[in-house]
Amino acid sequence: MSILELIEQRLRENFALHEQYLNPQMVKVLRTIGYDRQYVKAEGPYLFDDRGECYLDLLSGFGVFALGRNHPKIIQAIQDVLTAELPNLVQLDASLLAGLLAERLVAIAPPGLERVFFANSGTETVEAAIKFSRYATGRSKIVYCQGGYHGLTLGSLSATGESHYREGFGPFVPDFIEIPFGELAALEQALAGKDVAAFITEPIQGHGVRIPDDTYLPTAAALCRQYGTLFIADEVQTGLGRTGKFWAVEHWAVEPDILCVAKALSGGFVPVGAVLCRGWIFDRVFNRMDRSVVHGNTFGKNNLAMAAGIATLEAIESEKLVERAAFMGQQIVTDLKPLVKQYEYLKEVRGLGMMMALEFAEPKSWSLKAAWKMLETANKGLFSQLIVVPLFTRHRILSQVSGHGMNVVKFIPPLTLTDKDCRWIVEAVRDVVADAHRVPGAAWEFGKTLATQALRMKTARDTPVPLQDYQNTYRRGDAATGGRGE
Ligand SMILES: Cc1ncc(COP(=O)(O)O)c(C=O)c1O
Repeated sequence: MSILELIEQRLRENFALHEQYLNPQMVKVLRTIGYDRQYVKAEGPYLFDDRGECYLDLLSGFGVFALGRNHPKIIQAIQDVLTAELPNLVQLDASLLAGLLAERLVAIAPPGLERVFFANSGTETVEAAIKFSRYATGRSKIVYCQGGYHGLTLGSLSATGESHYREGFGPFVPDFIEIPFGELAALEQALAGKDVAAFITEPIQGHGVRIPDDTYLPTAAALCRQYGTLFIADEVQTGLGRTGKFWAVEHWAVEPDILCVAKALSGGFVPVGAVLCRGWIFDRVFNRMDRSVVHGNTFGKNNLAMAAGIATLEAIESEKLVERAAFMGQQIVTDLKPLVKQYEYLKEVRGLGMMMALEFAEPKSWSLKAAWKMLETANKGLFSQLIVVPLFTRHRILSQVSGHGMNVVKFIPPLTLTDKDCRWIVEAVRDVVADAHRVPGAAWEFGKTLATQALRMKTARDTPVPLQDYQNTYRRGDAATGGRGE
């Protein structure tokens, strides 16, 4: 049986299979918030389900589909590699494709980054960056930021400043020091002993889409230089045009010593990661022939990832996606900003390029405040569900809450969005934000259901009540398709 026949035959078993063999909690979550769709096709920024419904994907696989899904040029590159039956992963050789991708990455890297190490994921690039920093400086301490996210393997988790991910997984790697993001005095205090190997941060924190003020990163980089600490920019999410510059550090003319990139580098097709680093750091780590494989992995330089990477960089350039991300992102933020004055719950609309956030906060007026408190007492960050769920069920827009326990809704769409897609987003957000301010109203009926569930789970660790009933009423028939901008 071919793989396509297998898919066809067992299409409706996906949730049951995940319940039985993978993560049943994830299935519960999907059912609870009504995200339990059967997607059968994907193209560009769109997903299609088995009922023929089209969804606009503002999550883009956690940011890997910067080019949109199933980009023909990347498919072609991968197919060419497979058809040519090239030798792959010989290991005791020097793969041409890896050399070519490294050459292209160095050509577009921030100044001074002249060597490349390939990995298979974002977290692996962070692990490598930590190890390289320790070896190259002979120091052990790593300084990282509260609220930062660098991946969930133990080294990266030790540098991840979010308690939700850390709880119960300690003890962590020793000598990791947490400081508040955006606070230079705390950074200087941490570095002053001249014993810190590296300071690692995302230029813009992905969780919460926290954009630092203009002095933070340049001064942080200068402090690192002053105290002999390496500056690691984790651009796993922000790199490759996402923020409207090729690298987010370019917004502040910062030159890191090490830069981590992954996610979108293979157009979303193949796991990939790359560490770009200064020559001297690389030369220290790989300083003798007997240490030539002192850090490495089995699949990092595989042909499919390398070919997809080369094709992805070409597509970003030829389709002018960095400029497009800057322009379209700016347009969406500009169109949505006026809602802040109009709607009390909406505290801020912010973003750079195609990395955008809507932040919600406690309102002033009494009726709205009481409703807010009901949700937030049940579970911190629950209000956001009043935005992301109707965005999905009514407007067919897939988006995410930006982090645990926060009321920030995040959009990281493909960089290829059209004007029509942008209108789809703006009209849908206007509708759901307005609806959330109708208290009492349909949105708050849903809010009550959510709050009840959250409290029940808190107290009894109970199974969530499926919300299908709610959705049937809340979807308002299919009248809500107007928000798609069609
Ligand atoms: C900034 C950042 N670093 C590291 C990672 C970890 O990447 P991966 O999930 O590929 O391990 C992520 C993933 O979201 C990320 O956003």
